[in-house]
Amino acid sequence: MQILVTGATGNLGSAVIETLVKNIPAKNISALVREEEKIPEIKAKGINVFPGDYDNVSSLESAMKKVDTVLLISAGDQGDRMQQHRNVIDIAKKSRVANIAYTSRAMRNRETLAHDLMEEHFLTEDYIKASGLNYTIFRNTLYMDVLPIFVGKKVFESGIFQPAGDGKVAFALRKEMGEAIANVLSNEICENKTYKFTNSEAYSFYDVAEALTILSGKEVKYHPVDISTFQERMRPTGISQSMLQKVVEFNTDIKNGQEDEITNDLEAKLGRKPTTLQEGLKTLFGL
Ligand SMILES: NC(=O)c1ccc[n+]([C@@H]2O[C@H](COP(=O)([O-])OP(=O)(O)OC[C@H]3O[C@@H](n4cnc5c(N)ncnc54)[C@H](OP(=O)(O)O)[C@@H]3O)[C@@H](O)[C@H]2O)c1
Repeated sequence: MQILVTGATGNLGSAVIETLVKNIPAKNISALVREEEKIPEIKAKGINVFPGDYDNVSSLESAMKKVDTVLLISAGDQGDRMQQHRNVIDIAKKSRVANIAYTSRAMRNRETLAHDLMEEHFLTEDYIKASGLNYTIFRNTLYMDVLPIFVGKKVFESGIFQPAGDGKVAFALRKEMGEAIANVLSNEICENKTYKFTNSEAYSFYDVAEALTILSGKEVKYHPVDISTFQERMRPTGISQSMLQKVVEFNTDIKNGQEDEITNDLEAKLGRKPTTLQEGLKTLFGL
């Protein structure tokens, strides 16, 4: 068995590799690495490293020559993400790779999403299914790790201001989703399954504020503001218009209940309960 992990130098990819090397021999793992200077660190683990880019088809062909399973870690939103994903899937098919796995997003209803970029995950899922390759889809919940960015540096002085109402998110730690992905890839036969990796509980920003209050000993309040108040508050921070729009769309989906679905999949594939919000925030904020 040879598993190729793309995005291997990213946060999720590194977490996948950290568990994969415990589960299977390093010689059975390959990594697609975009930046040359990141190669030595991965190579030191005994993993086969292939320099490559989703935009560079011949680099993908070289990386997939002797591969059984490709884990496509979704690209960021800087380039033409859909074309990048299609390149990986097309070359996997051309290279007669047996299985493809993809890191998608756990959202309740694709038809009513506020955040356009999320639809690309579902279009990628469609493309994979149409390819005829055996697939495993990992629909990951919103990373708990993004909460410090969401609530901002002044959270302990000013509180939390988001246009998310009392919407909830089944936040889970990225490294635990990486661990669960690696467990599935190394222990299971790929048979066209879709997992939804979420925490065992969903949390609102009221819950986030309460957890931060308990952990810090300082009262943190959540203010569920409307979108225009939020935009007014954010403008002086120098945030770009496009980023502000994305944050608003994230919050709108949260408010609309897109992110609050709970499943047992993550717990089952970790073999333990996922880290709770309070435990996770303790580490993420160093409290
Ligand atoms: N569930 C969530 O809450 C959530 C939040 C944010 C993002 N995401 C999605 O999940 C993905 C993984 O998350 P993450 O935290 O691991 O992101 P990350 O740390 O930014 O890692 C992304 C990885 O993809 C690689 N990559 C990006 N574009 C590439 C290209 N054109 N060719 C080859 N490699 C490329 C990056 O390579 P370099 O190391 O060279 O940059 C990096 O290794 C993200 O890319 C995004 O699509 C999900």
